[in-house]
Amino acid sequence: MLTLNHYHNQWIDLRSDTVTHPTEEMLDAMVKADVGDDVYQDDPTTLQLEELAAKMVEKEAALFVPSGTFGNQLALISHTERGDEVLIPESNHIVMHEVGASAVIAGVQLRCIPDVNGCITIKDLQYRFRDGDIHNPRTGLICLENAHSSGKVIPLADMQEIFNYSRSLGIPIHLDGARIFNAAFALKVDATDISQYCDSVMFCLSKGLCAPIGSILAGSKSYIDRARKNRKLMGGGLRQSGYLAAAGLISLKKMVQRLPLDHENAQYLAKRLREIPELEIFDDRLDINMVFFRIKKKNFDSDALVHYLSKKNIKINLPMAEEFRLVTHYWIDKRKIDWVIMIIKEYMQKAL
Ligand SMILES: Cc1ncc(COP(=O)(O)O)c(C=O)c1O
Repeated sequence: MLTLNHYHNQWIDLRSDTVTHPTEEMLDAMVKADVGDDVYQDDPTTLQLEELAAKMVEKEAALFVPSGTFGNQLALISHTERGDEVLIPESNHIVMHEVGASAVIAGVQLRCIPDVNGCITIKDLQYRFRDGDIHNPRTGLICLENAHSSGKVIPLADMQEIFNYSRSLGIPIHLDGARIFNAAFALKVDATDISQYCDSVMFCLSKGLCAPIGSILAGSKSYIDRARKNRKLMGGGLRQSGYLAAAGLISLKKMVQRLPLDHENAQYLAKRLREIPELEIFDDRLDINMVFFRIKKKNFDSDALVHYLSKKNIKINLPMAEEFRLVTHYWIDKRKIDWVIMIIKEYMQKAL
């Protein structure tokens, strides 16, 4: 008899949607999964997951990979040659949070573009595109991120414009779509309306979609063939990956459609946080399942707040550049949000 880990009964974890554990249905499916050896390409559950994943973003093929970072870096090495330059908004995950892997694995140079919540313009790209001058690296790839981890989505019209421009130069686009389905709900479109404007897309099964491990890289058949070989080179050729893919299948079949609830809960969390006068909520970045705020008081002791919440079984991250980020997900409901608000109010009354 399977029982769920009781972590989610003990902790209210708002640090990220990466903290989601698999549901009981997923655990059950994992135990019963039909598996083979995926390096031999005969693991039926992984093949089924890859087929469905490719279909959901309307690409010819898809590959199961261990993580979002792995998927992005695999995308880069499979699109580029060593020494290429990659045009990318400077606040993207690939630049900020992937340990400089692009220099180590693909051996590319990231040409970072100042952006506003992941948005850049054609002008930004035009200015940075390299011609064939002997001094120049080749411009090998453009990267975008939608939804962006600032909590905003990139409008479809912007993506289309950049896509059309990339066609005129013959440069591919990779989309970090870790939360592409959140972006689709926020934009009120289908995920395929977004993925039509990129050559490859990575999306995560392990965030709001609750799978314990795994992401997808999708693209054309020839591109995914190349990526399969590179995945092996990177040590990501998994064997009985069907045990993990079984959870991923439930992510795609059942968890995608409930993401709007996380967005609704983020709106509710923001509304309740507005009751606390010491906080400033960034209302213009409430597109998905993330709420950003800052404490108005100068020299506020953020460590003490995080520590206080932790003693009350609430996990939040320390602020980055004075911004706190709270993330809603499958294991967060309005009742838990009410509890968190009560504890923050209690702390503010004591501390200020
Ligand atoms: C936008 C974005 N891309 C990529 C990743 C990397 O995913 P992983 O943590 O699975 O490596 C994350 C993780 O939070 C992310 O937010």
